[in-house]
Amino acid sequence: MKMDQRILTELADLESRSQLRQLEAARDIDLGSSDYLGLASDPRMKHTVREALDAAPRVASTGSRLLSGHDEVWTALENDFACWVGAEAALYFTSGYAANIGLLSAIVHPEDIVFSDSANHASLIDGMRLAKGRRIIFPHLDLNALEDELRRNQSISGARFIVVESVFSMGGDRAPLRDLAVLAARHHAELIVDEAHATGVCGPDGSGCVAEAGLAGRVFATVHTCGKALAAAGAFVCGSEPLRRFLINRARTFIFNTALPPYFASQVSAGMHLAADAETERTHLSGLSAFLRDKLERNGFDTAGSNSHIVPIVLGSNDTALAFASRLQARGYGIRAIRPPTVPPGSARLRLSLTAKLSQRVLADLAGAVVEVRDEIAADHTVPLSR
Ligand SMILES: Cc1ncc(COP(=O)(O)O)c(C=O)c1O
Repeated sequence: MKMDQRILTELADLESRSQLRQLEAARDIDLGSSDYLGLASDPRMKHTVREALDAAPRVASTGSRLLSGHDEVWTALENDFACWVGAEAALYFTSGYAANIGLLSAIVHPEDIVFSDSANHASLIDGMRLAKGRRIIFPHLDLNALEDELRRNQSISGARFIVVESVFSMGGDRAPLRDLAVLAARHHAELIVDEAHATGVCGPDGSGCVAEAGLAGRVFATVHTCGKALAAAGAFVCGSEPLRRFLINRARTFIFNTALPPYFASQVSAGMHLAADAETERTHLSGLSAFLRDKLERNGFDTAGSNSHIVPIVLGSNDTALAFASRLQARGYGIRAIRPPTVPPGSARLRLSLTAKLSQRVLADLAGAVVEVRDEIAADHTVPLSR
């Protein structure tokens, strides 16, 4: 009873700060989907999965990969994936969250320092929290601040890691990977890049921003999730062959996690191959993104420096973002307000993630609806209009 009371108090507190979240099914025009290439409903994916399932001797893995759950299909898939992104080796985890936590908690020792971008995803943050080393957070993509910190902390005995996302999940902006690689080399730091939102969408054949920057095989590690553009689930940590062997032995989210069923490797593989061939979808998606950003910016909206298929509209207060979201939802748009702590205080926003299944027509209507909603809210004095 006491515990129930505490939980209810916390929920009431979240509600009073307009931070209470609810589960809702996606709407007709889904602008929150990570199915960037539209592969989730592609008949070729379904066909592959059906065939793999029919051919599978069992539908469950029955254990972790170090026990009964390993199957050679995973090793073959890891080799193919490493080849696609230009890395020496890859290791598959059951989610991107597990990959980031497993990698960071295993690799960072107590005497090490991790330099982490302030906009990094929760899975990276949690991985660093679990790791024993020191964490220094630098302002989002402020490379001068990062270099100052690297200089200030140059005489430590341990290793130094720089951790960024290549396409940031909440801002849709991109890390300047070449500059970061130069900084890392100059200050003897290792670069770790989370490619969750770039995999399948950016770079040669969708192989990611690290490859696009000409850095394939030259950064310490990349993390590629499979639940977004690849229409599957899980994630690969890519890097050197010794790193792969090390993670098999040290990454707790790999060791103590039941493997996914072997037939699922076929879904990941199909997602990878279809994504690699999806040049038409990539070109369409990039055109859609430029079109929407332009429409919003011309109407005075702040898109937070996005230059990708993730287009935020920064609105300021939680109440303003919620008012925009609910009015757009009432018009049939699947749009969510993203609030602190997911984004910094005062930068609540709508986050539009575009997919190749959308059209310019739909986005033109959407931009019109956003402008209409702004006018409605401006006329409705009960909603605080903040920036
Ligand atoms: C940047 C980033 N990294 C990692 C993850 C976690 O991936 P997964 O959903 O596969 O656990 C996400 C998921 O939203 C993400 O946006």
